[in-house]
Amino acid sequence: MKLLLLGLGLILVCAHEEGNDVVRRNFDDSQISGYWYSILLASDVREKIEEGGSMRVFVKHIEVLSNSSLLFNMYTKVDGKCTEISLVTDKTEKDGEYSVVYDGYNLFSIVETDYTDYIIFHLVNFKEEHTFQLMELYAREPDVSEEVKKRFVKYCQKHGIVKENILDLTRVDRCLQAQGSEEDQDSRLVVSGGEGGPGMSAFQKH
Ligand SMILES: *[C@@H]1O[C@H](CO)[C@@H](O)[C@H](O)[C@H]1NC(C)=O
Repeated sequence: MKLLLLGLGLILVCAHEEGNDVVRRNFDDSQISGYWYSILLASDVREKIEEGGSMRVFVKHIEVLSNSSLLFNMYTKVDGKCTEISLVTDKTEKDGEYSVVYDGYNLFSIVETDYTDYIIFHLVNFKEEHTFQLMELYAREPDVSEEVKKRFVKYCQKHGIVKENILDLTRVDRCLQAQGSEEDQDSRLVVSGGEGGPGMSAFQKH
């Protein structure tokens, strides 16, 4: 009887883990499309993710375009008002890596994901002679398990980003109330990657 229960327990453990395989290479980009929430945001240059910082953005949706570029629909606060921004990021030759012009030139890659719960990105920004790093944790739900958060913190530390520079976005206004509201249509920013000089190539769309 004991043996039977043990066997049953093992089957349950295995079945549970099967649904949550963590992927660190050979990414299936089509599976990262859909709705996401920003959970943790970290950078070795803290100003970039503090209020008013260019990288303080909150993800809403990712779409895989037919040319394999990713379209990110996100929110950022402009003068305290939630403003939608769209970013098209182009796939590079490397597995899971993308590039985009936004406050400089950015290269980012998927660190790991299970597609169904969370995804971790690592980004490096190049602007004139300077570079900085950004790490992002997105989840399918407004919050994610402590275990996943701990993994993220570990990755940050591995990249030299100190704990004080990891922001918990679940405790701030992530513009969730703006999602799906049509009143914000007139304050939509479109940021196009690939063209323009250094700096942010953003313009109002009417
Ligand atoms: C892919 O398509 C999008 C939308 O049309 C465009 O903005 C982007 O520049 C394209 N990417 C490449 C690499 O051609």
